[in-house]
Amino acid sequence: MSQALEKLLSPANLNGLELPNRVIKAATFEGMTENGGPGDRLIGFHKAMADGGVGMTTLAYCAVEADGKVKDNMMHMDEVIRPQLERFTRAMHESGAKVSGQMAHCGGFSQNSKLQKKRPLGPSFALNLGGLPYGIPFVGAMQQADIDHVVRCFYDAAVLMKSVGFDALELHFGHGYGMSQFISPKTNKRTDQYGGSLVNRMRFPLMVLESVRKAVGDDFPLLGKMGLTDGVKGGLKIDEAIEVAAMLDQGGIDALIPSGGTSSMNPMLMFRGDSIVKGMLETETNPLMKLGLRIMSPIMFKKYPYEELYFLDGARRVRDRVDCKLVYIGGACTVESFETAMQEFDFVQLGRGLINDPDLVKNLRKEQAAYVNGCTHCNMCAGLIGHPDGIRCVLND
Ligand SMILES: Cc1cc2nc3c(=O)[nH]c(=O)nc-3n(C[C@H](O)[C@H](O)[C@H](O)COP(=O)(O)O)c2cc1C
Repeated sequence: MSQALEKLLSPANLNGLELPNRVIKAATFEGMTENGGPGDRLIGFHKAMADGGVGMTTLAYCAVEADGKVKDNMMHMDEVIRPQLERFTRAMHESGAKVSGQMAHCGGFSQNSKLQKKRPLGPSFALNLGGLPYGIPFVGAMQQADIDHVVRCFYDAAVLMKSVGFDALELHFGHGYGMSQFISPKTNKRTDQYGGSLVNRMRFPLMVLESVRKAVGDDFPLLGKMGLTDGVKGGLKIDEAIEVAAMLDQGGIDALIPSGGTSSMNPMLMFRGDSIVKGMLETETNPLMKLGLRIMSPIMFKKYPYEELYFLDGARRVRDRVDCKLVYIGGACTVESFETAMQEFDFVQLGRGLINDPDLVKNLRKEQAAYVNGCTHCNMCAGLIGHPDGIRCVLND
């Protein structure tokens, strides 16, 4: 076995947490929430990967309050689902995997038909294009009290998640959700201490990080998923993103996961390969959304051909700027890619490769250099997020 593969498959430490290996299942919202929390199907989905040998799995999308959910079928961290969360973490631990939870707030990007507020809140007043078909056309601007409230929600959610057995937490600073809306100059038009300069735009995300750190203590692993670029005119660009990374590092994050694109404006930048629209059109039941998808798809779903390790250059720049650990994500699917990632980074997160082959780690141990993953980046899994049965790899049907 090559040295790099040996490194990938051997134990590693993240701020005191001993992971059995360096393969982490990425946050991939599975659309399988039952009764507001994880049930048998979602446990089964993650357990297959835990049994298949991943070092840590990541539960997504863990909204920190009800209005932090992008869609109504997501879960939010609440005492009511404590038994379900405990059952989830216990099941993963029994299979030998550690468990992380991706904490997020959608900010203004809401398609939640059961939104409690009159309108979702983000950094600035805006049109909520993705919410139009759901009757949520506008985003309101957060006042100081709203900012304090969301910071408190992150704190409470972190306390709850640690107490139910999560071994690590991943804060979502990217993909166009609440915190990334503050970071991006495209969506943050504020003129107060939360807008304008990067220092100001980072104020709210850093307040969240500080509050989560306070909730979990110094010796608990915190990961941060961040954007390298929004990929839209006027959005976050790589030079600023590197400084975002430096600020999160200074703010006490233990590991960074550099990704890119936004779910609201340019999702294909984060996936590459075939358009996710095909799967979305198959599962979408809202006729307005279907029409919107057809009209908007050439603008919103730009074509980005798939290539292995498509975030490598950006991830390298982050690595060179920070002291914290680095998790590579984005198109790591071949043995060669795993080896490159291990020569340069500390961990690797895999989304579609594991959805295609939950036994990836086990198979890699057995087959080593001969291992071949079956994912073709058809992206049907991502398009099926709205499917009533949740996501699956259609190649395994
Ligand atoms: C079905 C699906 C759901 C996803 N949901 C999330 C999510 O909830 N949060 C997130 O940060 N990224 C999400 N992603 C993006 C992945 O975490 C990852 O960034 C992307 O798939 C690239 O990694 P890969 O090439 O290993 O698949 C999702 C991806 C897929 C395929």
